Amino acid sequence: MAADQVSNKGVILKRYVTGFPTEDDMEVVTSGFSLAVPPGNPTAVLVKNLYLSCDPYMRNRMSKHDDDSATYIEDFVPGEVLAGFAVSKVVASGNPDFKEGDLVWGLAGCEEYSLIAHPEYLFKISHPELPLSYYTGVLGMPGLTAYAGFLDVAKPKKGDYVFVSAASGAVGQLVGQLAKISGCYVVGSAGSDEKVNLLKNKFGFDDAFNYKKEHDLKAALKRCFPEGIDIYFESVGGAMLDAVLLNMRKHSRIAVSGLISQYNLEQPEGAPNLFCLVAKRIRMEGFIVGDYFGSYQKFEEEMVGYLKEGKITYVEDIVEGIDKVPEALIGLFSGRNVGKQLVAIARE
Ligand SMILES: NC(=O)c1ccc[n+]([C@@H]2O[C@H](COP(=O)([O-])OP(=O)(O)OC[C@H]3O[C@@H](n4cnc5c(N)ncnc54)[C@H](OP(=O)(O)O)[C@@H]3O)[C@@H](O)[C@H]2O)c1
Repeated sequence: MAADQVSNKGVILKRYVTGFPTEDDMEVVTSGFSLAVPPGNPTAVLVKNLYLSCDPYMRNRMSKHDDDSATYIEDFVPGEVLAGFAVSKVVASGNPDFKEGDLVWGLAGCEEYSLIAHPEYLFKISHPELPLSYYTGVLGMPGLTAYAGFLDVAKPKKGDYVFVSAASGAVGQLVGQLAKISGCYVVGSAGSDEKVNLLKNKFGFDDAFNYKKEHDLKAALKRCFPEGIDIYFESVGGAMLDAVLLNMRKHSRIAVSGLISQYNLEQPEGAPNLFCLVAKRIRMEGFIVGDYFGSYQKFEEEMVGYLKEGKITYVEDIVEGIDKVPEALIGLFSGRNVGKQLVAIARE
């Protein structure tokens, strides 16, 4: 290996995925990585990745979309390293905005070292005094998702009744806490008693339930919201969405962040109660966090303030080593993660 070459382990997609992904759909491979800025790309940034983020949207990129009308991002390419959000340290840069030693977060690869050809989704870390891993979560993409989706799309008012599904996860735990800061009453659902306990006793939700133990979701929601729901922060879809529709109030809002229960289905389910949108004049609006990256700095300062004042707390599920990426990634779809799932692959 040449003097400026290092070995680089990365996770590739072996084949396009249909149905539930398995570890065997991915493979950890080793290649060489040059630590010099390539002459053909003089403004590239080279980074050493410290933490890799596991995010549900990555499943969408593992499928082949012949018709791109139902997606918003390119499919992964079999044989290539998966793209993903990471917290990283710059090891070389031809870009005037980044220099060697900078700590950054943004879109990189699921690998030890990444060459970032177009660093438009790379942000400098302004608060290294906080855990750097937070930039995969509360101070990164999921944090901005919770912030923008709840405050800008759902537009809470003091006293609103708010329901959050997948509530203990990377996004959901923050939506619940932002709802409390906004003066709302908030209930969350999650898939285990351990997670329900976190919602009530760590994140300050007013109430929570284990949806896997409820045989009638409509009745469970009625029990938690006898007067109905003003805001539903949607991450799940399917039967949960359908039960929520029946419990929404007139002129209520649904901010659609994701539909994780549908991501591994070959035939997505419908929502038989969709007419509730008409009958109750509900505003249902989807959003993509990428549209809010322009307001990242404002979000970061506000969220850092909440963390430092103890108004927001954050739970992470950290596994060690790049070999763990496939297992951690697919664990999102069985609820194995407790809090934000990430993989630590190097220390600074
Ligand atoms: N719109 C955007 O820009 C944007 C950005 C980021 C994330 N998102 C979306 O936000 C949602 C949450 O993402 P996250 O990063 O915070 O993930 P997460 O909640 O940390 O992890 C995923 C969780 O989803 C739950 N889940 C998995 N399969 C399920 C199913 N079939 N039915 C019900 N719940 C299921 C599991 O929790 P339980 O144990 O509680 O079931 C699992 O732990 C996802 O839908 C994601 O696509 C959207």
